Amino acid sequence: MKTILLIHGPNLNMLGRRDAKHYGSLTLPTLVQKVAAGAKGHGLRVKAYQSNYEGGIIDFLQKNAPKAAGVIINPGAYTHYSYAIHDALLDTKLPAIEVHLSKVTERESWRAKSVTAPACIAVFAGEKEKSYEKAVTEMARVLGI
Ligand code: DQA
Repeated sequence: MKTILLIHGPNLNMLGRRDAKHYGSLTLPTLVQKVAAGAKGHGLRVKAYQSNYEGGIIDFLQKNAPKAAGVIINPGAYTHYSYAIHDALLDTKLPAIEVHLSKVTERESWRAKSVTAPACIAVFAGEKEKSYEKAVTEMARVLGI
């Protein structure tokens, strides 16, 4: 079974207690569980990680990418300014998909810009956990599963 990395950036450990209007009411463990169940249905195993630190996310990518088939990442606010995460995603040489719970293009103007998306093959945003379902389906399609 192929493994995909499911990565969450800063403040996403606060899901369920954080701005439900934009991010929904699921906690991060519940969200991860749902994504893992959906991925299993596509024959994919999920290895999940969350960090509030840019370096933690980069270390996780460098360590785990060699044994993974793809990356689904919600970089949180790092989306908007982390060229380091952009480069780390590129260096994995894996298909990466960016996801967002909220409608990033319809909020503050700075959220509309993603510096990490150019390292990704697709972005799904604005549909809360459904953004992740779409990302998993697309990842399975890209991996030929
Ligand atoms: C987010 C959107 C980002 O702008 C924000 O900083 C987050 C969450 C989302 O899932 O909608 O932390 O990535």
